[in-house]
Amino acid sequence: MRQSRKIDHINNALSRPDQADAGFKDIHVLHRSIPEVNWDEIDTSCEFLGKKLTAPLMINAMTGGHPRLEEINKNLAWAAMETGIAIALGSQRAALEDESVIDTFKVVRKENPSGVVIANLNAGCSVDEAKKAVEMVEADAIQLHVNVPQELAMAEGDRNFRGITENISVLVQSLDVPVIVKEVGFGMSMETVHQIYQTGARIIDISGRGGTNFITIEMDRCPGCTGGLSSDISDWGIPSAVSIVEAVETSLPVKIVASGGLRTSYDISKSLALGASLTGISRPFLEILIEKGREELADHIKNLISGLKKIMMMCGAASIEQLQQVPVVITGETARWLEVRGIDVSKYAHQGCKNRG
Ligand SMILES: Cc1cc2nc3c(=O)[nH]c(=O)nc-3n(C[C@H](O)[C@H](O)[C@H](O)COP(=O)(O)O)c2cc1C
Repeated sequence: MRQSRKIDHINNALSRPDQADAGFKDIHVLHRSIPEVNWDEIDTSCEFLGKKLTAPLMINAMTGGHPRLEEINKNLAWAAMETGIAIALGSQRAALEDESVIDTFKVVRKENPSGVVIANLNAGCSVDEAKKAVEMVEADAIQLHVNVPQELAMAEGDRNFRGITENISVLVQSLDVPVIVKEVGFGMSMETVHQIYQTGARIIDISGRGGTNFITIEMDRCPGCTGGLSSDISDWGIPSAVSIVEAVETSLPVKIVASGGLRTSYDISKSLALGASLTGISRPFLEILIEKGREELADHIKNLISGLKKIMMMCGAASIEQLQQVPVVITGETARWLEVRGIDVSKYAHQGCKNRG
């Protein structure tokens, strides 16, 4: 059941274009006419989990757990290694339940022996399960995903989320690698980020609304099924651009990972300028791999990084740290949302005045 669900997720994710708006059209990184930066000096690299990445970018959690997915994970891992970015695995639960599919995950570390590889399980997992998931791929960190709307959209999904916060605290204390608490495309509020901070986790992937939508994916898996969510609620969630600012506004010392509907170099640069430390992309990478192959995927990632470098030049940033300090004008629906949440968006338009942790 779990194995075939993974195949359905891929098929349904690829057949659904992005429907909602991640909010990036409302984010404007300020142009600098005289940047005083030499192209050769612009450095897109960053450090993440103690390793160097060529850019703050990750192939975010997707697959594994079915024999047909081993080749996909192998090629995603190759593309991550070839381009020097991080990679996260899809939920490893299937391998914990059925050892015969363990290689569909292990292949990622085999293909990418020294890169940043991140394990993935649901936030309700046990310490023993999390340790096995980390060990399976010698992971540099583990993502614990939170996916309440997706579970509710599945007739067979979980319905009891009591004790998750405490469980995350226990996992943070018991594991030897950092814990990343991660949404799956519904975004996070300031309140959620505070709640996660209390658990001791210090890396948070806000994975917001605007890209892959697991409510519609689950609906497509079982059209007409009762017990799930109704279609009028398919745009549930907090857009990614809003979620990044909500997380930044807590001023907590956490690393923010931006994902959910990031599609271009411009989206990546906007996320970083708002205050994210790393960005993640899922569905488009999978789509390119399946339709065009791994070389095309690596070229696409290289183009994203080169596009990021051009944007850095246009706003006068020679490093990611400088990009995180450039003025950003927030307009439209995103500004309106943030203002009614009590956030003064005008401070983002003034260099160095951002209130971030
Ligand atoms: C086919 C597919 C499978 C996914 N499986 C997982 C998963 O197992 N664990 C997880 O944390 N997120 C999973 N995700 C969610 C992504 O990591 C990401 O949060 C979400 O897709 C939003 O990013 P995107 O708009 O770039 O696709 C999956 C996404 C896709 C497209």
